[in-house]
Amino acid sequence: MTAKDLDRIQKLRNIIKEHNVAYYESDTPSITDDEWDQLMRELRKLEEQYPETYDSESPTKRIGGAPSQIFSPVKHSLPMMSLDNAFDDQELDQWIKKIDRKLTDVSQVQEYCCELKFDGLAISVRYEDGKLIQAATRGDGSIGEDVTHNVLTIKDIPKFIEGAPKILEVRGEVYLPISEFEKLNANAKKRGEKTYVNPRNAAAGSLRQKNSAIAAKRNLSFWAYQIGHISEGPDLKSHFETLDYLRSLGLPVNQNAKQITTGKEGLSAYINEYRLKKSDFDYEFDGIVVKVDSLQIQEELGATAKAPRWAIAFKLPPEEQTTKLIDIEVSIGAAGSATPFARLEPVFVGGVTVSTATLHNEDQVREKDVRPGDTVIVRRAGEVIPEVVGPILEKRPSDLPQWNFPKACPSCDAELSRPDGEARHRCTNYFCPRQVRGRVEHYAQRTAMDIEHLGEQTIDILVTEGLISDVGDLYTLDFDKIKAFEGFGETSVKNLRSAIESSKSRTLGNLIFGLSIPHVGRTNADLLALGFGHLDSLTHATLEELEKIEGLGPVIANSVFNYFKEIRHKKLVEKFRSADVNFLGPRIQDVDDVLSGKTIVVTGTLQGFTRDQVSEAITSRGGKSPGSVSGKTSALVVGDNPGGSKLKKAEELGIPILYESDFVKLLESGEFPRS
Ligand code: IVH
Repeated sequence: MTAKDLDRIQKLRNIIKEHNVAYYESDTPSITDDEWDQLMRELRKLEEQYPETYDSESPTKRIGGAPSQIFSPVKHSLPMMSLDNAFDDQELDQWIKKIDRKLTDVSQVQEYCCELKFDGLAISVRYEDGKLIQAATRGDGSIGEDVTHNVLTIKDIPKFIEGAPKILEVRGEVYLPISEFEKLNANAKKRGEKTYVNPRNAAAGSLRQKNSAIAAKRNLSFWAYQIGHISEGPDLKSHFETLDYLRSLGLPVNQNAKQITTGKEGLSAYINEYRLKKSDFDYEFDGIVVKVDSLQIQEELGATAKAPRWAIAFKLPPEEQTTKLIDIEVSIGAAGSATPFARLEPVFVGGVTVSTATLHNEDQVREKDVRPGDTVIVRRAGEVIPEVVGPILEKRPSDLPQWNFPKACPSCDAELSRPDGEARHRCTNYFCPRQVRGRVEHYAQRTAMDIEHLGEQTIDILVTEGLISDVGDLYTLDFDKIKAFEGFGETSVKNLRSAIESSKSRTLGNLIFGLSIPHVGRTNADLLALGFGHLDSLTHATLEELEKIEGLGPVIANSVFNYFKEIRHKKLVEKFRSADVNFLGPRIQDVDDVLSGKTIVVTGTLQGFTRDQVSEAITSRGGKSPGSVSGKTSALVVGDNPGGSKLKKAEELGIPILYESDFVKLLESGEFPRS
């Protein structure tokens, strides 16, 4: 053993002890939970490597914090333990294998129960003859603090349970709903008082008050998840049954607990589902607790000094992390918009490694007051794009200068200007290579002209080699030149050529959307296609005509009007015309509302229609084309490789099923073929 490792073990034990005091006893944590977990993991690893350093006082061998002196101590009938953690699928797998190996009666655990790991404060509540007589915090696991006076103010917790067993000690988590936490902090801010860092600390701070009037005002809540001690109660066989029983007594039990019988795949599915749903709830959870469901197997597995062997907490990746903001840069989008973003020291947050995060616009950078060189909080919740929450001011080096929006475009050096009344800056050079690339990417995307094989890299080459300066040039590309570029073979050029060729028959809505007209999204593009019926009518439309289109506001009408006034856009339209790109919209192609009042669902691929064309064919005839089958569906059109569920549902509901040829007849006549 090296002196360095021994020194590190001592240091880690001391640091963690200090953090534990701040967290458990003063309710004011000085590091994030994730940072704490990392310190504990490092210590545990070193202790495993050097067993001779064993110390029963090490934080790895103790639970929580010492009970404070101001509340009467309560000795728990059974220790209130902690949970071991798994941080990834591999660690979960190791745990499953470990418990299976330990079992003698059965070879494998068949049933688990998964539930959320609520981020609150564990308490034990004791009922005698149905009456709530005592409530205590976890404390150090064997002795907690008496907080009965405060727990009596929690509305969710029954004060009397009709038909309860003689003695019932329930364990669960007291928490503060996020909405209540926000209210509490908003009020504290208004009064110039200290705010709480998170709902957990606010809940702990509320429960550990001498004066119960304070807790009463805070609207604390409770989830019950375990029975500590019971006498003269029912013969319960599983954890899931226990939860049902607690619920039947009128205790609040969370609805998201689920019995899992499909092994580790089932556990991973549950974990992934709730990882994504994490921000859907009004309470925080920082993991998933996986428990062996059978109480008999739980007993057989027993516990270590600290934690039961029959349960594990799968920690969800933290949604907030701190990291260094290296620089603020500006990216240029399709319509020239200049968006500031943070270049960060890579950090693992929300399940991915993040090295850039959006800062939206100049005002947001000002408001958040983030500066290159700051230590910042980065957040990524669910699947949303990462964002910088704000700086940690205590960590800001002195004389760090404020960031100013650059005057010149990072790509072409043209001026970046911010039009009056707008939040965004724009690059003023229409031919800025970044803008051209952005416009081509936008044009080629699936919901626009859907040009397969025209990915970012190809676009990059076409623009830098000067082969295209706008999307119209795609139709006069010199493919022999492209063949000569590195990475392009006979087949890839052929594929690209045919993908560009097929884009000519996309719908007018797709074409209008593909033009990157500022403020014109997919829905507005369809409104314009329907309203004008032909690209030429749209390009010649007056402002008044544009404003008459229902659903289109004046900002969009203006933007479209200005777009087609520009010579370069008139030229672009001519390039499309020469290439025979479809200008015809739904109104001119189809005049009758033959499908009015009908709901037609399509599944699978049709030979003669793309997805967009199918829905346009239906809606332009007055029909609806939703994505799923219901009782209101008039017919299901089935193409190649149909999805099984739509077909099954339509069959169950007795909905007419049409093939492509029937569908074409339906579009022409509005008549449903007789089956
Ligand atoms: S079961 C023997 N279930 O996590 C411990 N605990 O890290 C059995 N927690 O002290 C606890 N949600 O405060 C269990 N659904 C849940 C939980 C949960 C949160 C807390 C509890 C415990 C801590 C352990």
